[in-house]
Amino acid sequence: MQLQAEVLRRDGRRIAFVPTMGFFHEGHLSLMRIGRREADVLVVSIFVNPAQFGPEEDFDTYPRSFEKDLELSRREGVDLAFTPDKPQLYPDGYQTYVNLENLPNHLCGLSRPVFFTGVATVVAKLFNIVRPHIAVFGEKDYQQLLVIRRMVQDLDFDIEIIGAPIVREPDGLAMSSRNNYLTAQQRPAALSLYKSLNRARALVESGIHDSVRILKEVERIILAYPDTEIDYLALCDLKSLEDVKNIDRPVLMALAVKVGSTRLIDNMVLDPKC
Ligand code: PAJ
Repeated sequence: MQLQAEVLRRDGRRIAFVPTMGFFHEGHLSLMRIGRREADVLVVSIFVNPAQFGPEEDFDTYPRSFEKDLELSRREGVDLAFTPDKPQLYPDGYQTYVNLENLPNHLCGLSRPVFFTGVATVVAKLFNIVRPHIAVFGEKDYQQLLVIRRMVQDLDFDIEIIGAPIVREPDGLAMSSRNNYLTAQQRPAALSLYKSLNRARALVESGIHDSVRILKEVERIILAYPDTEIDYLALCDLKSLEDVKNIDRPVLMALAVKVGSTRLIDNMVLDPKC
């Protein structure tokens, strides 16, 4: 892959990169379409990265559909699929990790302590292997997108990071490979995330700017569904992810909810001026 990237760059071709863990849905495909539009060569990686899963998490059961993913990539005009295995990226003796100081101390980082180090490390490695000019990440994983932007700035990667809007199912559930874990009985409860985000937006736009009050209402909506457990609910600053008490500017409403044993995340930007 590195050699191919070198040849492409020498020929003056612009490389777009979409890193993924596979099991493609429309969210992944939307990133590929953006990459396709923005560059000459589109590279997608498929690698379920063990470094970003905690010991109690779902690395072993994470859904995989390799052949179907390759077929979908072909249909989206992907030029190169980079599909390393674990020993290629983490050979025996591997010991170098990328740590961020502040951004992981919020939201998902609190319940998933190794997650962002795992993500930043694998993305840094993939950037050095694929050597892209641009890379596309989804806003569905808003904190991840901030972490990548920060790492690119801090470590001087010469790569433009593009954020892509959240792709949702027709009823509003944010697409995720983990939606595959949901049973038919749990599916309505999964919609509680989107429903509560919309309610929060309506409250903010109607002039209610007190975060405590909004978060209470969001909590009430989610817990009214069976089998739901809140990991976090936050109204936070768009850049630092610090809590915002009074919504006097656009803020991020972010939440993580377990439906049964499936952990789902979603977010929305709420603007008091709308
Ligand atoms: P994965 O969960 O496979 O997601 C790959 C990319 O697709 C990420 O940038 C994610 O934000 C984006 N994505 C997922 N669901 C989306 C949706 N509904 N709408 C828009 N974009 C969506 O995120 C990872 O993999 C990994 O952490 C990775 C960055 C590949 C590092 O291992």
